Amino acid sequence: MRMRKVNSEVIKNKKVLLRVDFNVPLKEGQVADGSRIKAHLETISFLRANGAITALVSHLGRPKGKRDEKYSLRPVAAYLKEVLSVDVEFVEDCVGQPVERALCNAKAKDILLLENCRFHPEEEKNDEDFAALLAAPFEVFVMDAFSVAHRAHASTQGITKFLPSYAGFLIEKEVSILGSVRDNPVSPLVLILGGSKVTDKIGVIEHMSNKASTILVGGAMAFPFLAAKGYSVGKSKCDEENVNSAKHILKALEDKEVEIVLPVDVVVGASVEAKESEGIVDVDAIPDHLMGLDIGPKTVEVFSEHLRSAKSIVWNGPLGLFENPAFSKGTKGIGNVVSSKAKEGAVVVIGGGDTAAAAKALGFADEVTHVSTGGGASLEFLEGKTLPGIEPLLG
Ligand code: 3PG
Repeated sequence: MRMRKVNSEVIKNKKVLLRVDFNVPLKEGQVADGSRIKAHLETISFLRANGAITALVSHLGRPKGKRDEKYSLRPVAAYLKEVLSVDVEFVEDCVGQPVERALCNAKAKDILLLENCRFHPEEEKNDEDFAALLAAPFEVFVMDAFSVAHRAHASTQGITKFLPSYAGFLIEKEVSILGSVRDNPVSPLVLILGGSKVTDKIGVIEHMSNKASTILVGGAMAFPFLAAKGYSVGKSKCDEENVNSAKHILKALEDKEVEIVLPVDVVVGASVEAKESEGIVDVDAIPDHLMGLDIGPKTVEVFSEHLRSAKSIVWNGPLGLFENPAFSKGTKGIGNVVSSKAKEGAVVVIGGGDTAAAAKALGFADEVTHVSTGGGASLEFLEGKTLPGIEPLLG
């Protein structure tokens, strides 16, 4: 997948609008995890080094088209100032006079952070007039926000009709790494899937089952599969829709070479709020009053055995309730295995969202080949879709 990459020639001393994804968790008015912000620093520094005036545009949360201080990007300006060690001017809106005024006063290398573009209902509607308004004061558009490239919005797609548009370094890296494991993985490829919903992963399983030798299923999504195979899963998360999806997948995979591997044991607890586990049981002995909240040690062994010969590994979705130490051992155990595999030279890619958070919290994010910034975007990409925010950058 060839993209038009940003380069010195096209941005030198220009007014550049850079689409980033600063949709980060905030706590008490401060950035709680800045990984997504840091992922854009290479592109921001490149624009600065080339004398561009850079205006950063992003969304934060889902403010439903209305100005809401809770979703203001102002705290991100302070964070950015600290990590970049340069001044960052916060602009009260992403269109109109505030932007024009700030640009008028700006000089080469200055960085502006525009207010949340989702304060305008036109953003998510991909409104053409709004996209033109966003583009008006600028000369070049650089798209770097892989994690929101699955949304056809004014600031991700619409705007490309009005400005010469290029891919930033982050989106380029994401597309190149995810693209190679999706389209041309070094075999054998093992897919590890977890998280809560089977329905979210159907597309990935269908698309990747032609390339993968094995699919390891853990986390809450294992229970609909176990139920579909006739096991009783107690109080584990498991609704009819997900059981039907699991049945559909098991049927679709019958004639394929790929093997789907389910847990053999699970760590059980009284509820998702449980502080402690109630023990480890085999999957044919889950008590009616308990729920599975992590894969068990025998499953970690079984999964590790399947991962032993893998040359490529794609992991999307935690394998248990990793936020609670009582239910984090499965995700951590497999994290250790994939870290060793990466050291041996296997390509290990972790899909973003919860899996990235788990990798960070459990200490293996820096050990693997790539942790994607994209949650939904990485899933849709692995389903084989061309994302609307990427399409205009191709060629
Ligand atoms: C994400 O966090 O996955 C992206 O920022 C996209 O956010 P959205 O799901 O609100 O569009």
